[in-house]
Amino acid sequence: MAAEPVNVNEFSTLARNVLPKMIYDFYAGGAEDEWTLRENVAAFQRTRLRPRVLVDVSNVDLSTTILGFKISAPIMIAPTAMHKLAHPEGVTATARAAAAAGTIMVLSFSATSTVEEVAATCDAVRFFQLYVYKNRSISAVLAQRAERAGYKAIVLTADTPKLGRREADIRNKLVVPTLKNLEGLLSINMDTEKGSGLASYASQTLDSSFSWKDIKWLQSLTSLPILIKGILTAEDAELAIQAGFAGIIVSNHGARQLILCHQRLWLIEEVTKAVRGRVPVLFDGGIRRGTDVFKALAIGAQAVLVGRPIIYGLAVKGESGVKKVLEMLQDELELAMSLSGCCRVEEITRSHVQTENEIIR
Ligand code: FNR
Repeated sequence: MAAEPVNVNEFSTLARNVLPKMIYDFYAGGAEDEWTLRENVAAFQRTRLRPRVLVDVSNVDLSTTILGFKISAPIMIAPTAMHKLAHPEGVTATARAAAAAGTIMVLSFSATSTVEEVAATCDAVRFFQLYVYKNRSISAVLAQRAERAGYKAIVLTADTPKLGRREADIRNKLVVPTLKNLEGLLSINMDTEKGSGLASYASQTLDSSFSWKDIKWLQSLTSLPILIKGILTAEDAELAIQAGFAGIIVSNHGARQLILCHQRLWLIEEVTKAVRGRVPVLFDGGIRRGTDVFKALAIGAQAVLVGRPIIYGLAVKGESGVKKVLEMLQDELELAMSLSGCCRVEEITRSHVQTENEIIR
């Protein structure tokens, strides 16, 4: 491989070389036998493109608008925990790279920098991801701190009433660093005796009783729009709209929660059909190429979020690595659009993709 990575997958290989095994495994790993993890990427490879030719593509515009905020391309940064394990500057470097690329970063609840530190690092539109803890006042405080610090939306992660079974972390006895947002709010014994420190931490903190009937409480905490992350069915998409969520993120948490038995990329179609344009539908999981972004958009997503590649960029080259990862994905998306005859994001339609078995007449 060339010294300078030329695509996002090469960043992943380089990150494996620079990170200690316990940390790389935490970032890269998925739940149980990890076949959903492989499927997240493989689903894109099985989805075919139907390019149109002889379109004037001399001016391609990637920009789009999410919840009224203009972004340079439909590629956002997913909330991922503990960036200081990848690089000493942690998520503040990621935030600066997002701002430079003109996109939105969703800050993780479990970050190794506080919401205020991230807000102070540069001006940009940012969202804050929320977990609901057994001690709900902790989540309430965090949602309100995020609003005060200028975050523009809350992203409720709904797929984690309990932590998925991440066996690499159990094997490595993952040690969790200080989660800065929670300093002074709770004290937990991150026990690694029986395995993963994160699993021990999560079992003491996550509120597995939180349900649809509690959404009103969440809405009473903040005037910000609230998106829901982790929707995988038409039924839950409808419930989410009825509950008043401002947007839906189709996500299986990077294959770290439930092992699934469905080709999940196409769940975008199930969800968008149920949503019927009432709120934006975003997607994350397995995006490694501009063509992956193109396919997710063609199936119906308005934008995608990227998790692991961002962390790998950070691990290898800090802020400039994250910038490079975003630039690579944006450049590849521009090329995919050009080679498919699309000048604007809205011109990417369902007719530009087909499943392995589908014949469109
Ligand atoms: C995550 N994800 C996640 N999600 C969330 O809502 N809160 C969090 O704190 C985290 N933390 C986290 C850490 C790491 C190391 C990973 C890999 C993932 C899930 C994340 O937001 C997103 O759904 C996936 O990462 C998307 O898949 P890809 O892009 O990593 O394949």
